[in-house]
Amino acid sequence: MIVFNEQKRIFSIEGKNYQYVLCVNDAGFLQKLHYGKKLAEADANFLKYAAEKDAPDAQNANMDMQFDGMQSECGFFGRGDYREATVLCERTDGGLVSRFRYVSHAVYQGAPEISGLPHVRQADDTLKITLQDDFSSLQVDLFYVAKNDGDVLVKYAVYRNGGNEPIRLRRAFSLCTELENRNYRLLRLEGGWGEERTPETTPIGHGITRLHSLRGASSHQMNPFLALVEENTTEENGVCFGFQLVYSGNFALTVERNNNDLLRVQGGINDTDFSWDLNQGESFTTPQVALSYSTCGLGALSRAYADFVRAQIVDPKWAFAQRPIVVNNWEATCYEFNSEKLCPIIENAAKIGADTFVLDDGWFGKRDNDDSSLGDWVVNQQKLEGGFKKIIDCCKRNGLHFGLWIEPEMVSEDSDLFRLHPDWAIQKSGVKMCQSRNQYVLDFSRRQVVDYIYECIAKLLRENEISFVKWDFNRSLSEFYSEALPFDRQGEFAHRFILGVYDLSERLTSSFPNVFFEGCASGGGRFDCGMLYYFPQIWTSDDTDAFERAKIQWGTSICYSVSAMSNHISACPNLQTGRSVSLQTRGVVASLGAMGYELDVSKISADEQEEMKKQIFDYKRVESLILNGDLFRLSNPFTSNYFCEMIVDKEKRTAYIVGMQVHNAPSRVKEKIRLIGLDEGKIYFVEELGVSASGKALSVLGLEMPKRGDFTSWTWHIKEIID
Ligand code: DGJ
Repeated sequence: MIVFNEQKRIFSIEGKNYQYVLCVNDAGFLQKLHYGKKLAEADANFLKYAAEKDAPDAQNANMDMQFDGMQSECGFFGRGDYREATVLCERTDGGLVSRFRYVSHAVYQGAPEISGLPHVRQADDTLKITLQDDFSSLQVDLFYVAKNDGDVLVKYAVYRNGGNEPIRLRRAFSLCTELENRNYRLLRLEGGWGEERTPETTPIGHGITRLHSLRGASSHQMNPFLALVEENTTEENGVCFGFQLVYSGNFALTVERNNNDLLRVQGGINDTDFSWDLNQGESFTTPQVALSYSTCGLGALSRAYADFVRAQIVDPKWAFAQRPIVVNNWEATCYEFNSEKLCPIIENAAKIGADTFVLDDGWFGKRDNDDSSLGDWVVNQQKLEGGFKKIIDCCKRNGLHFGLWIEPEMVSEDSDLFRLHPDWAIQKSGVKMCQSRNQYVLDFSRRQVVDYIYECIAKLLRENEISFVKWDFNRSLSEFYSEALPFDRQGEFAHRFILGVYDLSERLTSSFPNVFFEGCASGGGRFDCGMLYYFPQIWTSDDTDAFERAKIQWGTSICYSVSAMSNHISACPNLQTGRSVSLQTRGVVASLGAMGYELDVSKISADEQEEMKKQIFDYKRVESLILNGDLFRLSNPFTSNYFCEMIVDKEKRTAYIVGMQVHNAPSRVKEKIRLIGLDEGKIYFVEELGVSASGKALSVLGLEMPKRGDFTSWTWHIKEIID
């Protein structure tokens, strides 16, 4: 709900459990007054009183230098605000000085439509506040998009040149907000290939802490998310604020602690190599940022983000729909396959109850290793004589759908596409081109290149019965240069590249609405809300070892729904870690998301086949919880000897719990886990234990966790007893 108190010039934005309050102060600046718990209506006076103490005094000759204590919604440069500016706008005379004041505002119903950028699909109200630079023709529209029953507030900015002199944006962040520091800690999700989204919490010192990516993708190394959490915040207790970008390219998120102990949180497109020219009347829309607030610990923050991802980001057609249970051939065959080898895999995939076979890398051009053919999206006749027909027929005979791997943004040096259009690969003349995984990246800032790739992929989808696409992206960008852009607009390249990716994603997903798209980037190197807007789920990591995966999924769940995670059961010893764990453990960890298989199901024993059949049967029992339920993280595998997570339906009638003991040791101590997600007033039956107890007893006393050996696991299915 958005309310404007005209007399006090106060804006109030309310969601389910938060309130965000702003005012236009006497000097005309937009000042943030409050973000947190909902306050009483009568508190407007008190807020105004507090704001006046922090605001610059319009009557004072020194007003220009009095901004250190004011909580700003748009930091400016060179005029008394000495924190990092939100926008840097360079004029033709080289001047950068800016300062923004309120001009007008408007409230709209629903969420704004934004073309070309992923954005929230649905909301109740939107507030737009327009500011004007005192010293240039730059106007800023600040947007606040709110949902009455949600705990996520979406913010972004649109910068517009309202004059006739050109303006160059050297930084154009989406977000600026400030909080009084209550000894907050900074939580980030850092990582690398095979160890994505590892939670790390550190104190916040004075100065600037900056999280970023300069890889052309949101990256394995740093997710575009941060949270400020009270010291000693747990899953159940503590105040936290989350900030999550709806963006997949080079990003920056910064926290600046100043001498007044204010924390300025800012972010959006990474400004390191950014510029954007605005001619008369032109505007620039920044990516959205999803803010969330919880007084009940990290668990509640995560559940708010999970609801946000499902209800506002993912295409509603897929958000809560049953996901395909995939058998993928990558870890089974790598590049070495042909129809004869794939058919037994498909037949056995059907026997275990999977519904989709996905043909991974290596089916096109003359690709037998990672050295060639990216960009040549035609079937490799050596491996698949006559095209996909045999494979698709085999799938159909066995009642399976067919899925295909692609890597649209890439080109191999040894490819017909590169031989024909060497200039389509990203390069900077005079600098040796840079390979990674033996491949180059196509210049997706060029419409012509995106059009060509669209046609190639669309042709495949038109001509073959393909119901699933796995969209991969296996290297970082380099050079960050487009031969097609003028020298003075190269700062636009990285953002234009990701706009090209979004354009292709939009065109393919809307032209083929029945095809299910899964995102992937060398594992989870582009796991963000930008990609989730187009692809309902993303391959979480190339590390499929159950223990490592438990940790990766734990970290990922901090700001994404479990349904966004694609999890496969792979063979042992595990390819990435060499570790062997039981099929049961691999299965239950994978069941906490979109479950599938990544092994040669034609080479499994009869017992394994039976077990996988049961895994899929069991998964279908809990699938609706995975898609719709609330996640409660019970035991942290980073800090304890157990991993345990619980998913509860919204009405708190059923729950599914997965646990794993990491290492076994002789011990007389009974380790219990408290089941915190249930309704304390209800009575539940724990199927595996044959015992019933109230939600209160299960939450206060807990259940004893089984000790069966290293990396052993268990599940508990819990149901409300209704007389
Ligand atoms: C990286 C992906 O994460 C893998 O699953 C697989 O698709 C390979 N790329 C194929 O090259």
